[in-house]
Amino acid sequence: MKKIITVLGARPQFIKAAPVSREIRKEFQELIVHTGQHYDQNMSDIFFEELSIPKPDYHLGIGSGSHGEQTGKMLASIEEILLKEKPDYLLVYGDTNSTLAGSLAAAKLHIPVLHIEAGLRSFNKKMPEEINRIMTDHVSSYLFCPTETAVQNLYKENIKENVWNVGDVMYDAVIYNKEIAEERSTVLQDHQLSSKDYYLITIHRAENTDDFEKMTRIIDAFSQIKGPKVWPVHPRTKKKLHSFGLDINKIPDLHIIEPVGYLDMLKLENHALKILTDSGGVQKEAYFMEVPCVTLREQTEWVETLESEANILVGTDTQKIVDAVYKSISPNYEAYFGEADASRKIVELLSK
Ligand code: UD1
Ligand code: UDP
Repeated sequence: MKKIITVLGARPQFIKAAPVSREIRKEFQELIVHTGQHYDQNMSDIFFEELSIPKPDYHLGIGSGSHGEQTGKMLASIEEILLKEKPDYLLVYGDTNSTLAGSLAAAKLHIPVLHIEAGLRSFNKKMPEEINRIMTDHVSSYLFCPTETAVQNLYKENIKENVWNVGDVMYDAVIYNKEIAEERSTVLQDHQLSSKDYYLITIHRAENTDDFEKMTRIIDAFSQIKGPKVWPVHPRTKKKLHSFGLDINKIPDLHIIEPVGYLDMLKLENHALKILTDSGGVQKEAYFMEVPCVTLREQTEWVETLESEANILVGTDTQKIVDAVYKSISPNYEAYFGEADASRKIVELLSK
């Protein structure tokens, strides 16, 4: 049986790994390395428990740090494991520092890299994620894209071999867990929220959280949006708001909550009137659930969601955010992200 080492580190990667690991383990031996990039219980362990993701075989415990420090420590530790375990492949997801460290460590040892969620581009190199994706795509041997746009992006960078559009593994996860979330999650009752009567907010992108002016404009917009709002606050955002002295407790009708588990999140998304976010994963989940989305960024990698105004890209201008929230729209949802069988397709391709 061939051996795959999967490197995970951040919240969205745990969620992506859940459906993929289930399939991989039918055909391959998989070892999981958790870098420890995310470490709070509700940013890491909760997902392993809820989604029955196999326990990591190695936990590096790297934690937070500057980009160079965090990525460098991961690189050294992953290299040691690769030398010892001698896997046939190394698997990484998305665009975090854990993705870059894993792919670089393997590529230098001539271990073929499998990249899931390959080919995404914002064309904004100020984003750390853009650097991580470009580097990872260019050292990967097998590139699994979630959309046709991603395939085209790679083509333009002359990456043409072993590139497949398999659909989005996050769609697999949503389809698998949506009904489970409906049955098990009590998050609406817990926070006295009624279906289709509240806005769901998530903000964590460094380009927003680390900019005082942007965060001030965003908070002004949230203050002007009437009615219940629920905001599970990412630890990065919590720390930045505190250091800027920005107080979100003053926003009327806002439920400020800790980051929630995946099942609670799916339920919150499914019953929201609209979703306001700068997250990549949440933009897509809004699309899969057919809940209108307002994205507080200047670019999105998920350009398909902008079709028919299912997702409106507004940046951080206060008035633009408020206008988009109140805009009446009738989106038309299409199957841009595959058939919820991306994980199975990936393993089929690998087995061949
Ligand atoms: C990372 C990814 C980003 C992804 C996001 C998903 C990079 C460069 N960024 O951003 O692409 O969208 O994860 O959520 O890899 N912290 C805690 N507890 C934790 C984790 C983080 O308190 O469990 C705090 C620390 O202060 C840390 C800060 O959050 O410095 C940022 O964490 P980090 O993992 O560096 O980046 P994210 O903003 O989470
Ligand atoms: N998510 C979650 N709990 C939360 C916020 C987000 O489970 O409190 C999930 C969300 O449903 C999605 C993923 O985390 O599956 C998105 O991760 P995040 O927004 O941290 O990162 P991004 O997708 O922008 O990289």
